[in-house]
Amino acid sequence: MPKIFPSYFSCSQLSRSSRSRIMAQTARLVASRGLFKGANAVPAISTRTISSWWSHVEMGPPDAILGVTEAFKKDQNPKKINLGVGAYRDDNGKPFVLPSVLKAEEKMKTKGLDKEYSPISGNPDFCKYSINLALGDDNQVVANGLNATVQGISGTGALRIGGAFLNSFFAGNKEVYLPSPSWGNHTPLFKHSGLTVKSYRYYNPKTCGLDFQGLLEDISKIPEKSIILLHACAHNPTGVDPKPEQWKELSALIKKKQLFPFFDMAYQGFASGDVTKDSLAVRLFIEEGHGIALAQSYAKNMGLYGERVGAFSLVTSSKEEAARTMSQIKILIRPMYSNPPIHGARIVNEILGDDQLKQEWLRDVKGMADRIISVRTKLRENLKKEGSSRDWSHITDQIGMFCFTGLKASEVENLTKNYSVYLTKDGRISMAGVTSKNVDYLAHAIHEVTK
Ligand SMILES: Cc1ncc(COP(=O)(O)O)c(C=O)c1O
Repeated sequence: MPKIFPSYFSCSQLSRSSRSRIMAQTARLVASRGLFKGANAVPAISTRTISSWWSHVEMGPPDAILGVTEAFKKDQNPKKINLGVGAYRDDNGKPFVLPSVLKAEEKMKTKGLDKEYSPISGNPDFCKYSINLALGDDNQVVANGLNATVQGISGTGALRIGGAFLNSFFAGNKEVYLPSPSWGNHTPLFKHSGLTVKSYRYYNPKTCGLDFQGLLEDISKIPEKSIILLHACAHNPTGVDPKPEQWKELSALIKKKQLFPFFDMAYQGFASGDVTKDSLAVRLFIEEGHGIALAQSYAKNMGLYGERVGAFSLVTSSKEEAARTMSQIKILIRPMYSNPPIHGARIVNEILGDDQLKQEWLRDVKGMADRIISVRTKLRENLKKEGSSRDWSHITDQIGMFCFTGLKASEVENLTKNYSVYLTKDGRISMAGVTSKNVDYLAHAIHEVTK
């Protein structure tokens, strides 16, 4: 600090008025002597002089999932396991960049691509590849121009565009019904969009499976022309999906009740390892004549978590309706973020636009799904070997990234405190954090807290 600033600037005992007086005198001195010209022209600012606008803002709670990771990082136990985060890890517990994605990026480097803005609706090829991935290459929706598809900022951004559109234009009851439980961000996201959020029964804690009867009963009571949110596959957090015949029944009921289905498909390919199988529900609903909204994400199935690349689509009743809704979606996007980022969409285009690379990617997806399925089996087997008498069949019955273990809050606490196994309080574990190296220890720890 230059000599001109008296050292008592740092003295906290000074009253506010004395501090202001000294600041004003110093500023006058600086101005009169023409000090700090050129590169040093900006005087240091004491932050104590900034008046508060935000004294009424209360400290918010930490994010439930990210808080788990923070606690995990602080733990010194070499055996610690983080099962909180919903991001894929390889069998060494390391983040995984898909080989097909690396190849796509290599190809992109040779193309001399520019960095111009994307259109408001995103990359047109990307939009087409995305809707075709969801509905199948030979689908009649795209052939007849019935879809209004835009690029979104991953799955979250796609859902948020949908929320904004429904809030502005849905002509029915602006209530969205979520499965109970649902992904933790659904409720704030739709509330933030201006919609009222309600729920329908979905999970049965007694069976750790689907409460199909409860689900049908609750959906029957939803007011007509409301919005229903459906997880297309690999339901988060429960890992419980309806069976094909149950989807058929659901489709009929939703049609009868004239509900508007909004599909969240964040895990296409991640559940079974097969992108066609995992989009069964979406394709069935289209076949049965539902107009739908669809949010897609490439975070999980291409490992493009940080690229923030996804898509939002409306499947409409005519080409003309698709054009009208598309024009309004663009008007909503423009003041939100103007236009989407370009890099992730280009990776997707390289992969889905090249037959050979697409086949490689499909193998990569299957590899990830198969690894998760195999550690589910190992965990269940090891619990049995440990001597657990509990029924753990739901570990292998559930599908996708997550397993809703059925562990009670006290058991979760015990697991974390005494075994350094980190997971959310609801007993959800990310199967992606389980590896062939830690599965024995995990089974042992779970058995110890549940026996
Ligand atoms: C059900 C569900 N929907 C949407 C998302 C959105 O993910 P992202 O915005 O990373 O694509 C997630 C991510 O965990 C999810 O589990």
